[in-house]
Amino acid sequence: MDSKASAPSLIDLINQAIARELQVSIQYMFQHSLGTAVSVQMQADALAARQSKFVGSHSSIWLPGTTLRKIAITEMRHAEAMAERVSQLGAEPTTQPAPITLGHTPTDMLRIDQAEERSAVALYRQIVEAAAQEGDRVTESMFRRILADEEKHLRTFSGLLGQAGAGPAPAA
Ligand SMILES: [Fe+2]
Ligand SMILES: [Fe+2]
Repeated sequence: MDSKASAPSLIDLINQAIARELQVSIQYMFQHSLGTAVSVQMQADALAARQSKFVGSHSSIWLPGTTLRKIAITEMRHAEAMAERVSQLGAEPTTQPAPITLGHTPTDMLRIDQAEERSAVALYRQIVEAAAQEGDRVTESMFRRILADEEKHLRTFSGLLGQAGAGPAPAA
């Protein structure tokens, strides 16, 4: 497999994409698990609050629920499809996820995830373009399909952030 010195090769780009998919599939699934744990604790707190006639202020905290779990599974399927493509191209798919960040509150999590989807959209547009330039129609159409999923995820996270009443993330 030949590689170019300056620009990353298509294989390198797809491996970057796989690392991201592995990252977010774990990230979203664990955020879902944490959310479930918080939800159980909130129910217990709400019950205790009712019994003590105290209304907990966090009873209105919104949680991502099963949305994150569903998206996590979609991301794992993306990783699978990409790994198959790298193998078909005669290279080895990475098994290393990019760094995982969970966040502490539902709003934190959604902001982190919204940023992940934005980065995915940018990278996958780059891959669609690189594949088209190389005349690799299979990779191009695969990434067009996956790009549409990521755009949907971005809309979902942005919509959920809106419902949670969260403004845009402060500039870093
Ligand atoms: Fe994905
Ligand atoms: Fe996504």
